[in-house]
Amino acid sequence: MTSDVKTITITGAAGQIGYATAFRAAAGAIYGANTRVRLNLLEIPEAAQAAAGVAMELTDSAFPLLSEVNTFDDPNTAFEGASVGLLIGARPRTKGMERADLLAANGQIFGPQGAAINDHAADDIRVVVVGNPANTNALIAAKHAPDVPAERFTALMRLDHNRGLGQLATKTGSAVNDIEKFAVWGNHSASQFPDLAHTLIGGTPALELVSEDWYRETFIPTVANRGAEIIQIRGGSSVASAASSALDHMRDWINGTGERWVSMGVPSDGSYGVPEGLICGFPVTCTNGEYTIVPDLDMSPFACDRLDVSVNELREEREAVRDAGLIS
Ligand code: NAD
Ligand code: LMR
Repeated sequence: MTSDVKTITITGAAGQIGYATAFRAAAGAIYGANTRVRLNLLEIPEAAQAAAGVAMELTDSAFPLLSEVNTFDDPNTAFEGASVGLLIGARPRTKGMERADLLAANGQIFGPQGAAINDHAADDIRVVVVGNPANTNALIAAKHAPDVPAERFTALMRLDHNRGLGQLATKTGSAVNDIEKFAVWGNHSASQFPDLAHTLIGGTPALELVSEDWYRETFIPTVANRGAEIIQIRGGSSVASAASSALDHMRDWINGTGERWVSMGVPSDGSYGVPEGLICGFPVTCTNGEYTIVPDLDMSPFACDRLDVSVNELREEREAVRDAGLIS
């Protein structure tokens, strides 16, 4: 057991994903079995009482690794000393709201949270944004944290990645652990590009095991539209799978993946022609607490076209939040 207690701040902690995330984070899902954690739960004032209830349940669970749990309605205090920020709380899209309205509403949330992270978080802060539109919300937060390296702000693409693994394992009768070099590029939206071109299953190219037709006409749309499908079938948006993926994302970033690829939404360094700074899904590997975009992959004309469509959407989102004065 290390003597260091790591602070994990969870926003939207009384919401569905926040609730599903907090208990596993308290059980060691991010830092592992040898690090104690402090959970800081951030909510809006209207949900402060519900957050207090979550904190009571966390205490009642007697997690050996949980050193303390605190609730806040002010981001400045919630992010004090935070090493991990799980930015889940966001305003859902309501009837009649255009995408631009959603971006503007959420800018009001992620700007102040970025500023609070800038002023109060620990030097090793790492942030994953779950609240939608996750990629652009992460961009807004990063822009409000000029003293924090921009690469510490990331967006959740791991749910899309895990969805792809699940579909492929089911189709081929393989174990998810046998699948290597799968990636989801682009935006966490229906425009995303789940890419099998480099994927191996038990060492065999995936595209020798499934047909090109299944890949293009079934796999890609199934993975890209899975969120909407879950809403339709389950009667509510993905919760436990989103929580699980957010924890996977942060655990792998901190503890490393070796040679294994995972998908993360990270600020582009210009790789693969994605404009610098856009928070875009890429295949990455993680070592020593840092991720690296997998370099030098061959991209077919099909892959380039798919990536372009999603990157254009990210560009438009960036323009929309610029026009709304949320970033400069
Ligand atoms: P929810 O409505 O159950 O919970 C959201 C919580 O956030 C609420 O308790 C609300 O009070 C809180 N909140 C709102 N503004 C806040 C603020 N400024 N500070 C702190 N808390 C705030 O929603 P949910 O099902 O938990 O989903 C949360 C978000 O995650 C949504 O935006 C959803 O679209 C998104 N989502 C993302 C993915 C992904 O893969 N990126 C997957 C599923 C859902
Ligand atoms: C998901 O991928 O499940 C969510 O982003 C869907 C949504 O719109 O909340």
